[in-house]
Amino acid sequence: MAATYQKWVEDQGVPVVTGFSVPNLREIEVGIWKRMGARGTILNLEGSEGIIDAYVLEIDPGGSVKPEHHLYEEIFFVLSGRGATTVWNEGGPKRTFEWHEGSLFAVPLNAWHQFFNGQGDAPARFYVVSSAPLVMNLYHNLDFVYNNNYVFTDRFDGREDFFRAEGQVLPGRNVWETNFIEDTRTFPLLDYKERGGGVINRRFELANSTLTAHISQFPVGTYKKGHRHGAGANVIIIQGEGYSLLWQEGKEHERRKIDWKVGSVLVPPNMWFHQHFNAGGDPAKYLALRWGSTKHPLFKNLGEDVRPVSIKLGGCQIEYEDEDPYIRQLFEQELAKRGVECRMPKLSK
Ligand SMILES: [Fe+2]
Repeated sequence: MAATYQKWVEDQGVPVVTGFSVPNLREIEVGIWKRMGARGTILNLEGSEGIIDAYVLEIDPGGSVKPEHHLYEEIFFVLSGRGATTVWNEGGPKRTFEWHEGSLFAVPLNAWHQFFNGQGDAPARFYVVSSAPLVMNLYHNLDFVYNNNYVFTDRFDGREDFFRAEGQVLPGRNVWETNFIEDTRTFPLLDYKERGGGVINRRFELANSTLTAHISQFPVGTYKKGHRHGAGANVIIIQGEGYSLLWQEGKEHERRKIDWKVGSVLVPPNMWFHQHFNAGGDPAKYLALRWGSTKHPLFKNLGEDVRPVSIKLGGCQIEYEDEDPYIRQLFEQELAKRGVECRMPKLSK
């Protein structure tokens, strides 16, 4: 018997995409999504492993999505277009905020929400990461998931500036708490040198969610250290071009190379090593949407316990000097193809 979530996916009547990655979320084909009054495609990528999933949601020019509320969490990244979202608790005041390409926000759990396309001549497109598989399969009762009137005031108190207020620093490395990021492409990032020279990042806590987000950027001619953790991190490229390598421990000969550019997404499977390479002429930047909130930890191997510590010391990271020589050779070849200079420190071997 199909799990509740899988059955729900089939019932949506929209295209479903599988595999390890999608080359361009902006161009992926979408179908009519009757329940939403919009268009969409569900992504059921390999690395999601039943604990997270994603979809592309497209709103017609001048259109809106049917309002809904539910007991699974969602984080919205705006791929293209601009518009507005209205959020409210049952019986509470409606709060509306505007977004555009590059914006990021979470809808608070079980709050009503509705999306409006602000342009009459172009569609608007979101990439949405949700906890629906976990929640639907746990309760296996869609009436409970969609028609529960409990109001989580600890997530959303209806205050007027909920989506406009200034964020705040939280304890932990580079953690910023906010409910709306106007532009992920320009949000200021902070030093994270433990993951490789020149890496800067920022981690986010949104709407008291258990799902979380972070942005990472690394310079021209460099790559990050390989590492591994639990399933379901949706890595969306928001600037630059390059590739990632994905492999299971002991299966280095079966490494997968995934080329990416702005609009690509990849999801490394559970505990597979993965490593991101900037092969282009601009700093590379990605947004990761995933489990692993610092405020509300859930799974082991996703979150604070994934420290930038060498696997030789019990951590999850492969230091540059310990990596397979093939990794550096391939990188130099890829840079040479594009005429970009390698800026990685020489390996002391
Ligand atoms: Fe990762």
